[in-house]
Amino acid sequence: MSKYEIGKSIEDVKAESGDIKIHKMSSNENPFGPSPKAVEAIKSTFDELHYYPPRDDSKTTQALAKHFGRGLTASNFTTGNGAVDLINLLENAMFKEGESNSIVICPPCFGSYAATAKLKGAKVIEHSLDAETFDIDSAGIANAITEDTRLVYVCNPNNPTGTYFDQEALMKILDSIPENVTLVYDEVYYHFATEFEMPDAIQCVLNKRNIVILHSFSKSYGLAGMRMGYAIAKEEIIEKLRKRKLSFQNDSISMAAMQAGLADKAFLDKVINNNTEQRAWLRDQLTDLGIKFWPSQSNFICFQAPKGKLASEIVSRLLPYGVMVRAAFYLPNHVRVSIGQPESNQQFIKAMSEIITKLDGEEK
Ligand SMILES: Cc1ncc(COP(=O)(O)O)c(C=O)c1O
Repeated sequence: MSKYEIGKSIEDVKAESGDIKIHKMSSNENPFGPSPKAVEAIKSTFDELHYYPPRDDSKTTQALAKHFGRGLTASNFTTGNGAVDLINLLENAMFKEGESNSIVICPPCFGSYAATAKLKGAKVIEHSLDAETFDIDSAGIANAITEDTRLVYVCNPNNPTGTYFDQEALMKILDSIPENVTLVYDEVYYHFATEFEMPDAIQCVLNKRNIVILHSFSKSYGLAGMRMGYAIAKEEIIEKLRKRKLSFQNDSISMAAMQAGLADKAFLDKVINNNTEQRAWLRDQLTDLGIKFWPSQSNFICFQAPKGKLASEIVSRLLPYGVMVRAAFYLPNHVRVSIGQPESNQQFIKAMSEIITKLDGEEK
């Protein structure tokens, strides 16, 4: 499997391809930008930036508890500087000092799980998704666990494959892993799963199971540049995470943006509706072009590089069209395209169509 590589920035691409219109479809960002209400809230903090932020995130966790309801309280939430910060905090909280530690991941998956664990000297045990379907081996994950395993990471819908699993699979995983191992259920793309009934992981938290749900403001809320995410878990786990946080871990701008973003239902609906419609349109277009792709309930689609090409070649061939996509990490022949607004998706399909014609010509 190829390794996780950091994606290019717009500046990198402009430096290589000139000052063309860029369709950034490489990092699963929000094609509508940030929530306007969040931007207003951010601006309203500017005059008070000389004051320290509130010492803790209690206002935000109260807002989150109110938002989700169902008997969750502020003590079931803690915030971080993006979900990556919470992954780091989780490892700090669960790894045992002076002992060996390991995590289990299900590649191809988000790279930060392994990266942060390795920084702490932990072993990373890989229990891969099915090589053809990218289905999770819910029945077999427990077999990968060793005595020093502290965390098992699963992602639903998964990045970079877009594939997803149901309630039965989640319960199989949770019921089969030992009580001293915490299941990290990364659900940062959950809003986009509009055509599939996602597992009810919150009920697992309410049932005091050993699970931590990760959510982010980087995707559906369009606030990736601000670094905001949160964990939902039973009180004992949240308490362990909180103890490891720095004083003033969350700045006042982020906390204002989080609360305003959360309340902006109209913006969220617009984002999700576009994603559902455009995902269906892209599926049809990819089918017409004869490109193999995997079912996605996320804001991106994973497809096979046509004509047996390497993903990196397709990524490069799309750049002159201003279309930025990513080689799907761990997978040398798979490409991940984020779903944009119609104009970007049309440019991507037009470019792919021309690239396939050129590849056909080169084969002759
Ligand atoms: C599966 C997954 N988890 C976590 C993250 C990190 O989210 P955040 O931007 O909140 O740190 C990402 C970001 O791309 C992701 O794809």
